[in-house]
Amino acid sequence: MSQGADILLGLQWGDEGKGKIVDVLTKKYDVVARFQGGPNAGHTLEFNNIKHVLHTIPSGIFHPNADNYIGNGVVIDPIIFCGEIDKLLKLEPDCLKRLQISRKAHLILPTHKLLDAASEAAKGKNKIGSTLKGIGPTYMDKTGRNGLRIGDIELADFLERYQSLKKKHLDLLNGYDFPFDLKNAEEQWMDAINRIKEMNLADTDVLIQNAFHSGKKILAEGAQGTLLDVDFGTYPFVTSSTTTAAGACTGLGLAPNRINQVIGIFKAYVTRVGSGPFPTELNDELGQFLRDQGNEYGSTTGRPRRTGWLDLPALRYAVEVNGVTQLMMMKADVLSGLGELKVCTEYKYRGEKIEHLPYSLDQELLEPVYIDMDAWKEDLTQIDSEKDLPNELKAYTKFIEKYTGVPVVLISVGPDRKQTLWRG
Ligand code: GDP
Ligand code: IMO
Ligand code: MG
Repeated sequence: MSQGADILLGLQWGDEGKGKIVDVLTKKYDVVARFQGGPNAGHTLEFNNIKHVLHTIPSGIFHPNADNYIGNGVVIDPIIFCGEIDKLLKLEPDCLKRLQISRKAHLILPTHKLLDAASEAAKGKNKIGSTLKGIGPTYMDKTGRNGLRIGDIELADFLERYQSLKKKHLDLLNGYDFPFDLKNAEEQWMDAINRIKEMNLADTDVLIQNAFHSGKKILAEGAQGTLLDVDFGTYPFVTSSTTTAAGACTGLGLAPNRINQVIGIFKAYVTRVGSGPFPTELNDELGQFLRDQGNEYGSTTGRPRRTGWLDLPALRYAVEVNGVTQLMMMKADVLSGLGELKVCTEYKYRGEKIEHLPYSLDQELLEPVYIDMDAWKEDLTQIDSEKDLPNELKAYTKFIEKYTGVPVVLISVGPDRKQTLWRG
């Protein structure tokens, strides 16, 4: 590994298995830093029969060797964050020592959550399917230059700043037909703010730069996925942050020329939670098979995930947007036992064959074109060497490498840390 930071991010619509892989990789790094998103994320880790879901805290937190930073690009809900800390303290009593929170990270207010819910309710059948964690309204206040930041809680006039932003939100909420009760949430929020005040609040951008200069290895952990990026995703059915590699620069204060590897992770098939186009979606028993085998229910909201075949034009688009240098394929075990295996290699768009992701993925305009691949039957979850994987899966992997032009360096065959096969 040469000097610099590596980025790990999702190449689909999120939930690719980022939490698992960051946990697996952390032993090679000195710093793990989340760069965007907030409690809309749910990153699952499994080891020693413990399953843990993180929302705001970086997935390197279980390793005593690494420092974990919550970067300026992240939005923090103090209540959810303190809830995560409480769960974590039971397993990792020292975790707060290893955690630094950017003073420039923005705060999610209880009224941001109400605005998220009111906006979604008003959209009716056109709703985004947001996680209702207040993500959109908080990033709107950030770019609208109204937001409150973690560093503000150290200021003498913090409460006035809070009241002033809350008032703006209440005025906006008046425009919706949306009843609410703020009192309880507000009390919990203030308690959590008081706890956060005692934690390590830092200029994490400077910490990252110092870490770089002292030769430390940094891993930037993405949340959501490329197809949920506010610019390059399936707008407007996206999240409100830059989920792509560029987001690691703006979300951490990491210059582009300090980035070394861009590790892109994808499921061997595709899932999506929430609304929006999904060209290779399976609305039949095969889709249900993938949901059941893959336990495809949201880590944050518990909603069933939509499922479908691997979409290679979309994957290559994500590889290009991020400059991916290494691929990791997750959940290959879930495809075991499928009677048929299809991969989308191109689209028919307005009657013409194309191999790129066009402006619109509207079902009326775009139809996926598939090829059949040989499926495999073997249970992969006990395999501990890449060499022992079925030939059909090896062929599937080679096909993906050829299509994208990027090596698949790792295949994951189960949720546990140990179910991880490096390729030689
Ligand atoms: P993230 O948001 O990208 O961190 O992914 P999530 O944690 O939301 O969703 C991934 C789910 O798949 C979690 O329940 C993981 O425990 C699980 N998982 C990760 N890798 C594998 C794998 O290779 N096989 C199986 N069967 N499950 C996996
Ligand atoms: P991780 O990091 C999957 C989806 C929501 C919705 C859209 C907008 O676990 O991969 P938001 O609450 O951000 O306004 O919702 O984005 N979404 C995710 N889907 N994984 C996630 O995070 C997601 N975070 C947001 O379902 O469609
Ligand atoms: Mg997730």
